[in-house]
Amino acid sequence: MKIFVTGGAGFIGSNFIHYWVKNHPDDQIVNFDKLTYAGNLENLSDIEKNSNYTFVHGDICDGNKVMEAMKGADIVVNFAAESHVDRSIMDPSPFLKTNVEGTGVLLNAALTHKVKRFHHISTDEVFGALPLNSPDKFNESTCYDPHSPYAASKASSDHLVRAYHTTYGLPISISNCSNNYGPYMFPEKLIPLAITNLLEGKKVPVYGDGLYVRDWLYVEDHCRAIDLILQKGKAGETYLIGSLTEDIPNIEIVEKILSLMGKKEDMIEFVKDRPGHDRRYAIDWRMIKRELGWEPQYSFDEYLKKTIDWYTTHQDWWKKIKTGEYQKYYEKQYEKS
Ligand code: NAD
Ligand code: TYD
Repeated sequence: MKIFVTGGAGFIGSNFIHYWVKNHPDDQIVNFDKLTYAGNLENLSDIEKNSNYTFVHGDICDGNKVMEAMKGADIVVNFAAESHVDRSIMDPSPFLKTNVEGTGVLLNAALTHKVKRFHHISTDEVFGALPLNSPDKFNESTCYDPHSPYAASKASSDHLVRAYHTTYGLPISISNCSNNYGPYMFPEKLIPLAITNLLEGKKVPVYGDGLYVRDWLYVEDHCRAIDLILQKGKAGETYLIGSLTEDIPNIEIVEKILSLMGKKEDMIEFVKDRPGHDRRYAIDWRMIKRELGWEPQYSFDEYLKKTIDWYTTHQDWWKKIKTGEYQKYYEKQYEKS
């Protein structure tokens, strides 16, 4: 089988390719990636010479290139996206281009090549925000109510993907997952930013009152869920993938990281809040558990420790990233705090 992965040089995509090589060694994998600031081929250096792995440097908005590269693909898994909320607030335009237009280009090519499954990776952020201290959770029937330009662009792409199923019969599936964490996560997101800042002796910026809640999903559990959806999930279906059963506010996440790394609370710095900051996300993941038998393998605390260990032993990887373009972004994002 041939699997066409977009955005495979990014955080979740590169973990997925590692997972796929390990669990489906007979499959051919094509990784199609533009290599934006978030794409890093070093994430895949251990498998780049594998005979069943091919990298194609390309933009999902480039119709001709996508059409050519997708030839012979049985399955498409679309990870390619602009993915950071704070960057979408600074400049929404690349989000509209890649996340909406690019998804449309991929869908057209998938239709032409008659792929057996087009799986689209989306986010719980399309559902908007939940109140604090409520039993409410997002589920597969929750209405869309995106708030940030990032979330709105992902919501648009989800609608397009479903429209290609309804209108043209393209065998699609969608998964809306919660916040991932684990190896190869770009250090602009909360957990890797906190760990790498502490390893550099810098403080951890916490937005607003720190009482914002996210549902945290370890990236390998996520990859296993996608695999199950591809093998056993129904065409046309949407699955929500979350992991936590209880709310953990951002400030508690940071406190756990401080404690595991032997640091004191004076390493926390409260900074100005994100505009339109969604208060709480929580996912009801009973459907994927019931229908596909998926559930997280370990606890949040175990995975957090594993993640800290990875960043501690891979300092070369993130130190290269934390210079150059990223440094300019960091200064701009946190300048008025
Ligand atoms: P990432 O930003 O780490 O990686 C994105 C990858 O896409 C990069 O390799 C980048 O080079 C590539 N890319 C960007 N624009 C492209 C284009 N026009 N053409 C081809 N390649 C392009 O993102 P991630 O965190 O790995 O997220 C992957 C997917 O999962 C995204 O669709 C995102 O919306 C979704 N998601 C992520 C999270 C999370 O916590 N990281 C949570 C929910 C959903
Ligand atoms: P983030 O990792 O950016 O993911 P998302 O916005 O997609 O949920 O942020 C996770 C939470 O952490 C979110 O509530 C914003 C907060 N946050 C901080 O408090 N400080 C930071 O420096 C960052 C990047 C995020």
